[in-house]
Formats: sequence, structure tokens, C-alpha cells
Amino acid sequence: MADTTTGDAFVEFERVQKSYDGENLVVKDLNLSMPKGEFLTMLGPSGSGKTTCLMMLAGFETATHGEIKLDGRPINNIPPHKRGIGMVFQNYALFPHMTVAENLSFPLEVRKIGKADREAKVKRALDMVQMGAFGGRRPAQLSGGQQQRIALARALVFEPELVLMDEPLGALDKQLREHMQFEITNLAHELGITTVYVTHDQTEALTMSDRVAVFDDGRIQQLAPPDELYESPENSFVAQFIGENNTLEGTIKEIGDDICLVELDDGELIDAKPVNVSKVGDRTTISIRPERVEVDTAKLGENAHTLKAEVMEFIYMGDVFRTRLRVAGKDDFIIKTRNSADQRRLQPGEQIQIGWLPRDCRALDAV
Ligand SMILES: Nc1ncnc2c1ncn2[C@@H]1O[C@H](COP(=O)(O)OP(=O)(O)OP(=O)(O)O)[C@@H](O)[C@H]1O
Ligand SMILES: [Mg+2]
Repeated sequence: MADTTTGDAFVEFERVQKSYDGENLVVKDLNLSMPKGEFLTMLGPSGSGKTTCLMMLAGFETATHGEIKLDGRPINNIPPHKRGIGMVFQNYALFPHMTVAENLSFPLEVRKIGKADREAKVKRALDMVQMGAFGGRRPAQLSGGQQQRIALARALVFEPELVLMDEPLGALDKQLREHMQFEITNLAHELGITTVYVTHDQTEALTMSDRVAVFDDGRIQQLAPPDELYESPENSFVAQFIGENNTLEGTIKEIGDDICLVELDDGELIDAKPVNVSKVGDRTTISIRPERVEVDTAKLGENAHTLKAEVMEFIYMGDVFRTRLRVAGKDDFIIKTRNSADQRRLQPGEQIQIGWLPRDCRALDAV
């Protein structure tokens, strides 16, 4: 993983804001610092400001407020083609009058790379995207997914220090997508390329990135390595957006540094880890991951909290069983249990006990 603790930031956003109409901020006070070589993904719902951030970094949009720096230098006034950035954008077209190989060779010619070297680099880039046989075609003779792969190859062919990619794998089928995810991260790490990657596919974000910035409403809601985002969401938006999540509503009754007491809306009292709550009386949404809930509550030891639940639905999924329960008056509580020899299949209507450890149960902001 890239070292995020050094002071040598390669890409920096400092208090960056963006408004297109002079009224509404679509990017609000963005602060971000990336070390060289990091693979960072911007993940978030449609309209949350991801492309706008990339466009400002590329130089196609200007920030309304704040500063963007590359390698320590402000770049607000440097035009896009002088920033030395490789880009694949949602609608970033190939040159239609050039063949595929010429499209790839072009950024190398601009950089005065010799012919033999150019040919080797073009071949390597085409092989990476599994398009080695298509060098002589024109873009119009390719499918949408093939054009996308060529655009990707063109962004990487000159081995830029910084690459920006906006949904570069959107048009590809699952198998090719997974292959390309692997190729992109490998190449980026091998060449020490700093990458800002945009997607709204959370699996892609979690598997490819050193860190993920979760966007919502023009703000970074949390910026953390994938495991931390999943295990330790800082607010309800992130808990809901990343992975599957159970929620229960309640009110804070007691609060300490490591533990708080929550009265659920059906009157039940449970312990939780206080994460995004501040005082007694605060409304809270409790968050618990499905796989942290045990049906065999004896396994958890004495610190476990147990609750009564009614089985609503049992879904056989092969490697796991996914069971929907009614808990504390809500019937959308999901648990996942591994399909093992001793794991019984629960029957709808059955009354069971479920349990979890207080540290796996996070008291977040009320939704
Ligand atoms: N050129 C523009 N002029 C005016 N408003 C714009 C422009 N580009 C984007 N917006 C608005 O800015 C907001 C953020 O858009 P942006 O394209 O950055 O979102 P996004 O996170 O990339 O979404 P998606 O996942 O759908 O691509 C949206 O409300 C959008 O309508
Ligand atoms: Mg976008």
C-alpha cells in the first residue's frame, strides 16, 4: 500500500469548491492529499461531484475557490495539455481519422519518443487491453467496449506520472472488466503511476484501491483504505453505501469513550460503540454488518448482546445462507451464515436468539 503518512503530497486539493451556476456548490470544501504512486478511487452516487473533481484536476474546469497542486506547484493556470496527465473520461473520444496504433503512437510522438521505442510501447499497451490484433483499424470499426479499451491504452502508453480515469470499464462485460481491473492496478503499481479512478461500482473500488474517497453531495464523507471503510464507517451514509448493513433506530441513554447505552425504539437496551453521536438524548442509527451477527450466541462469550428475532425468510445462496429477520419491530434485518455441515436451515416463523459483540455495533448519526 502507498505510504499516506509522508508530507510529500503529489496531488493536493485545498479547500476546493466548485459551482457551475454561481449559486449551488457541487463540490464543497474539498481537501485531499495523495502521495506519489497512490491508487485512489472516488466512489459515490450519481451527481455527487466525482467527475467535476477529475475535470478540475485535468484542467477542463476551474475551481471556484481553493487551490489544486501537482507535485507541490499550483496548477490552476496550467492548461490541460501541459499537465502531463493521462486521461480516460466518460466521453473522451479517440481521433477518428487515425488507426488504433496511430492513436496510441500520437502521445509518444508529441513527447519525441523514437520509432522503435514507440512501436514497443504501443504493442505493450495494446496487449494489455487484449487488442493486439486491432492496431490497423479505425475507431469507427470497433465496438464501444473496444474503443474504451483503446482509450485506456492511450492514457497509459506514455507512462504518465498521473492518470485520471472516469468509469473506464463501464462498457465492458464482467470477465473483461475483472481482467482490466487487474491489469490497471498492476501496471499502475509497476510503473509507480499515481492514479485517480472514478467509479460507482463499490466492489471495483474496494478491490483496486489503496484508499477510497466516498463522495456524497459534493463532499468526501470518508477517505480511508478499503478495509477501514467497510469495518469502521464513520457515518450512516458510508455504512449504508459500502456493503450490506443492518440498522436499528434508538436514543442515547448513557455515553462513555468506548461504549454507549442505546434504548432502541421498541424499548430494548443495547450497548454500542459511540462513533458519530455526542450526548445523551441524541437520536442514533445503530449499524451492524450481517456477518457479525451470530445465531449460535454461545460462541460470542459473555460480552455478547443478545436479542430475540423472528425468521421471516431463508435464502439458500450456495456458499452462504442469507436470512431475513424481524428484530426490534423491523423486518429487514439480514444475517449471513456460512453453509457448513453443522449449520441448520432456519424456518420462516421460527423464534431465535441472535447476538453480537458491542464493538461490532456502531452508534452513528440518525438517518
Ligand atoms: N457542465 C456542467 N454544467 C452545470 N452543471 C453541471 C455540469 N457538470 C456537472 N454538473 C452538475 O454538477 C453535479 C455533479 O456532477 P458530476 O458530473 O461531477 O457528478 P458525478 O459524481 O460524476 O456523477 P455520475 O456518477 O453520474 O457521473 C451534478 O448535479 C451535475 O448536474
Ligand atoms: Mg461522473
